[in-house]
Amino acid sequence: MKIKYLGHSAFMIESSEGTILIDPFITGNPSATCEVRDLKPDGILVTHGHGDHIGDAINISKETGALIVAPFELATLVQKKGANSHPMHIGGGRKFPFGYVKLTQAFHGSGFDDEGSMVYTGQPCGFLIHVEGKWIYHAGDTALFGDMKLIGDRFPLDLALLPIGDNFTMGPEDAAYATKLLRPKVVIPMHYDTWEVIAQDPEAFSTMVDQAVTKVEIINPGEDYSLNF
Ligand code: NI
Ligand code: MN
Repeated sequence: MKIKYLGHSAFMIESSEGTILIDPFITGNPSATCEVRDLKPDGILVTHGHGDHIGDAINISKETGALIVAPFELATLVQKKGANSHPMHIGGGRKFPFGYVKLTQAFHGSGFDDEGSMVYTGQPCGFLIHVEGKWIYHAGDTALFGDMKLIGDRFPLDLALLPIGDNFTMGPEDAAYATKLLRPKVVIPMHYDTWEVIAQDPEAFSTMVDQAVTKVEIINPGEDYSLNF
């Protein structure tokens, strides 16, 4: 299985079950390295309504027919805008043709900028994804929270994608603590360096993680990581 980092919090998971795009913020993303038209996902997972996460999801869905999976309020909004969506909510899981998806809590906001007016789209989320027998956790935008231990206890995580940018989400120290609670085999930091306000040194995050438990993989936008162990 290939994990492609598209920059910021955007990832593409390519497996034998299909292609999953997460938080596809390409247009306007200074760290993006791909073109929106090159993305042909089967499913698009969107954690919340902020522009740097919903990104190009609606247009990609309209163009390709890809199913947007999101919390109910956000899924309803994108459906009204012509996208193809499936609503879920925190704690709920469902098997899709491209993989199993379960929504987790995330401590953040979910305002959507609807042509200048702010529309609130319910609770933001994180995603647990089960494909090819592997468990992947994309935390979305969130603070550190104690129930990350519960997630780590319930699911043997192979890969965790965690924000380290600080200011809007966990910073490196909290993300290192989150890694300790989640105990994934591998962690990839995300949501940093896109703008000055979230500039971080991922190597500093790396030194704070107990690498006997979790390997830190720092990948640059445009690079792939092969999840094959
Ligand atoms: Ni956000
Ligand atoms: Mn964000």
